[in-house]
Amino acid sequence: MLNFIHDIPTRLYFGRGQIAHLDEALRAFGTRVLLTYGGGSIKKTGLYGEVMDILNKGGFAVTELGGIEPNPRIESVEEGVRLCKERGVEVILAVGGGSTIDCSKAIAAGVFYEGDLWQMVESEHGALKALPLVDILTLSATGSEFDGGGVISNLKLRKKLGNMFTYPAVSICDPSYTFSVPAYHTAAGAADIMSHIFEGYFSRTEDSDLSDSIAEGVLTAAIKYLPIALQEPDHYAARANLMAISSVACSGIPEYGKQPTFWPCHAMEHELSAYYDITHGVGLAILTPRWMRHILKKDPSCLWRFTRFARKVWGLENDDELALAQEGIDQLENFYREAGIPMTLSELGIGTEHFKAMAAHANRGGRLEKAFVPLNNEDIEEIFRACL
Ligand code: NZQ
Ligand code: ZN
Repeated sequence: MLNFIHDIPTRLYFGRGQIAHLDEALRAFGTRVLLTYGGGSIKKTGLYGEVMDILNKGGFAVTELGGIEPNPRIESVEEGVRLCKERGVEVILAVGGGSTIDCSKAIAAGVFYEGDLWQMVESEHGALKALPLVDILTLSATGSEFDGGGVISNLKLRKKLGNMFTYPAVSICDPSYTFSVPAYHTAAGAADIMSHIFEGYFSRTEDSDLSDSIAEGVLTAAIKYLPIALQEPDHYAARANLMAISSVACSGIPEYGKQPTFWPCHAMEHELSAYYDITHGVGLAILTPRWMRHILKKDPSCLWRFTRFARKVWGLENDDELALAQEGIDQLENFYREAGIPMTLSELGIGTEHFKAMAAHANRGGRLEKAFVPLNNEDIEEIFRACL
């Protein structure tokens, strides 16, 4: 088990009715609020009205930035920063999924950034200072409610990059706000949660039992509750479990004491989203089983991880260890398919035309040469091709 330092400065209010804490959470930072949200789901569900009632009753001065795109764009960040500066905003309130929260994190940091905001996204050092951020989560997926990262897209440059911007000060996580999430995004969200686990679970560190057990617990909860949430969208326990594991999965906790892996599936998926603007979790679901098969073939010394995954997560048994490992991967692919996720790139209209450039950018600076099983550009292209 390796050394680690961990500090999560976010207060989570989890469960039904926790919006009761919204007024006090904002007021701790001020009364001039930038309210950010996506393409309108919060207006359809009534959450927008509920939030506005609290803000109006509390006498908050509200500036709105709606229409934040899935795979949020740099232009929305620029607009948010402009509004914050113009109105002297003291605190940002993000209501939505990972895209709205990520965009709001970049806005919060961008207010203090001197210079071009895309440069801030590309900078190696992350943000030093940011406006306080409060969020109300409406989709269980990214873990943005409990981490400091954000992912911003620049469609003109065909780049989608993550960086450290700021942790939310407070995240209000009421699972009932996710009852309205459509099946497609519920399944994609679960695939994202599971991928955050896989990225750390498939590591060379063998003796970090706490991390491995947490990781397996998250995976088995996703496997149990995703089908229930799809069948019965307002099943509270299913939505609550998905929301709780969303926050834990990307928090760093499941990677305690483990060797970094450089998150190869995320690196490859961000290329797919940058070029084709696809749903993050769908890209991950397509890539993951193909990446698993590729690395198992390339480096049989990682077999032990796959057999543990098959046994602990799927409850499989087989004296033939390789067959067992492959069955575990097949189970995962079938699980995603049964959840209604399109499981090939061709179904998303994606062909081979940009694979070379995408592989080169995913592996910029040779970063994926340091993955659990090192990947070169040819490996990455091969994985993309296996997804067709
Ligand atoms: O935009 P609205 O109208 O709100 O609709 C959204 C959007 O169309 C809808 N939705 C959200 N909550 C809903 C709802 N529809 C009905 N009822 C609700 N309660 O769902 C759609 C997708 O929303 P989005 O926020 O884009 O999804 P997600 O939470 O999966 O966020 C994806 C973004 O987060 C990044 C991804 O790359 C992507 O850009 N990630 C952020 C991470 C982080 N901050 O740590 C880590 C992740 O690995 C990921 O890269
Ligand atoms: Zn993700």
